[in-house]
Amino acid sequence: MRTVDSRVGRMIEEHKGLNLILVGRNPEKLKEVSESIRAKFGKTQIKTVVVDFSGDLNEGVNRIHKTIEGLDVGVLINNVGVSYPYARFFHEVDEQLLADLIKINVEGTTKVTQAVLPGMIKRKRGAIVNIGSGAAIVIPFDPLYAVYLAFLCL
Ligand SMILES: NC(=O)c1ccc[n+]([C@@H]2O[C@H](COP(=O)([O-])OP(=O)(O)OC[C@H]3O[C@@H](n4cnc5c(N)ncnc54)[C@H](OP(=O)(O)O)[C@@H]3O)[C@@H](O)[C@H]2O)c1
Repeated sequence: MRTVDSRVGRMIEEHKGLNLILVGRNPEKLKEVSESIRAKFGKTQIKTVVVDFSGDLNEGVNRIHKTIEGLDVGVLINNVGVSYPYARFFHEVDEQLLADLIKINVEGTTKVTQAVLPGMIKRKRGAIVNIGSGAAIVIPFDPLYAVYLAFLCL
């Protein structure tokens, strides 16, 4: 999140007046990041939405829907993602990690995009940035991570 924080900071500096909706699973972390951004960019309005992408995704995405209602979401950054704690062969990946890789990296990103994109199309403006990875093409030892990152690079 520190890296996200600094990237977001740069974006605010470059596009003055940009406000933020931060989505994450950890309320304390969201509060901490919001406060640090507000301390640096006083005028930035920030809303937060707590969503655990490995949990009830539909319910979480509904809350995102409600939060963005009536707002002009100009840029969506799909940054959420999990990887392997260490390199594993395909047959070594446990059920929980497999489920998280699919649900968080693929389903989560898809559903959030689905929630935000219609507004952008209606307004005829907007940008979606999917944080992918070079792993999609060059890393042979995290097979599932590579496949799901390849999806994000589309
Ligand atoms: N680090 C790398 O070398 C690297 C290289 C290429 C691509 N990427 C991709 O870049 C993106 C950012 O990675 P990063 O390195 O900055 O790692 P990171 O800090 O672990 O970023 C992942 C983000 O996803 C969130 N997240 C994970 N599981 C979640 C869940 N169940 N519900 C809600 N949020 C969840 C994390 O929240 P918490 O802070 O609460 O954990 C964190 O904010 C990821 O999509 C990653 O796949 C990373």
